[in-house]
Amino acid sequence: MTAESPLQLLGGLTAREFLRDYWQKKPLLIRQAIADFESPLSPDELAGLSLEEEIESRLVIEHGEQPWELRRGPFAEDTYQNLPERDWTLLVQAVDQFIPEVAELREQFSFLPSWRIDDVMISFAAPGGGVGPHFDNYDVFLLQGHGQRRWRIGQMCDADSPLLEHAELRILAEFEQQEEWLLEPGDMLYLPPRLAHYGTAENDCMTYSIGFRAPSTAEVLTHYTDFIAQFLTDEERYSDAGALPASDPQQIRPDAVQRLRSMLTEQLSDDRLLLSWFGQFMTEPRYPERLGGCAIDDAELLDALHQGALLVRNPSARLAWSEVDGDVLLFASGNSRLLPGNLRDLVRSICAADALHLENLAAWLKDDEAAKLILELIRQGSLEFADE
Ligand code: SIN
Ligand code: CO
Repeated sequence: MTAESPLQLLGGLTAREFLRDYWQKKPLLIRQAIADFESPLSPDELAGLSLEEEIESRLVIEHGEQPWELRRGPFAEDTYQNLPERDWTLLVQAVDQFIPEVAELREQFSFLPSWRIDDVMISFAAPGGGVGPHFDNYDVFLLQGHGQRRWRIGQMCDADSPLLEHAELRILAEFEQQEEWLLEPGDMLYLPPRLAHYGTAENDCMTYSIGFRAPSTAEVLTHYTDFIAQFLTDEERYSDAGALPASDPQQIRPDAVQRLRSMLTEQLSDDRLLLSWFGQFMTEPRYPERLGGCAIDDAELLDALHQGALLVRNPSARLAWSEVDGDVLLFASGNSRLLPGNLRDLVRSICAADALHLENLAAWLKDDEAAKLILELIRQGSLEFADE
């Protein structure tokens, strides 16, 4: 795939055109983005996931004990027998971490950096069900998986947009409808951040939300400054060597502000440090407890590979890589490793989640650094043996 080939997923637009005209800007409806898409998961299987302790799920019932009642999973087995016929939605987060066929959907979006993808959330709605008119702060592709959903899109919103009084759900008090579409299985709607939208199920309906993530400016500032502060000593302080005599000792003069500004600029201008922090931050796993990891030594690794073992990315691991001054940086589930440039192709194929086996690893394993890297990633849990 190149940036110039028309993509069915984008309704015949090239990735370059989509990024130029729609991404982060305006909605795009794509009929049959995935022709004849069949949901790899049935509504019953989705309901089954919502009973699991480790899976995040929510139920939104429009006319429950209060309007737009929100219940959080895990749910009891009899939950679904006691729900009304209509007007409720079950939402299950990060299904891609549990169901490989759902994880495969992410590959369709390889024209975007994988570290921008958050998760694939799947909803099931009974007829009439929806989560109310709202906006999200993230880009999302809403792929219709089963049944039909009516999507209405409205105005661009911001932090001042009036919301209904609700302890937990952010439902818009005003919705200015601009467009309305009925989506069939395989149809997909792209929505940029902050665009009001309102989906309602026409019949039993499943929607896959491929959601993206972008750190807020506040998060970048607080986390990055915490990160650099670890490397600063107590001796590094505000300094006013060469200051002029104070004419009014109670005044904070502009030169003090200038000194602070240079102090900050100096600390914030190290791109290498910024990259290290960002890679670690963006690869923090959502469910660190699912990484596990296993104690293994090099002899055991070789043994396993000789017996035909396949090494794959742990579905809960997040991986990314970068290059600085000829070296390679690998970010694996919140850690970063600086590696020699000759490991670039290995690092790329680890990040691309290509299956690793004796054939494609043999040459690498002769390199001590490469062998050590593979072992560390297995111990940390970012790579695991595929069960076959
Ligand atoms: C849904 O699938 O019901 C909700 C998705 C969304 O509006 O973000
Ligand atoms: Co939404």
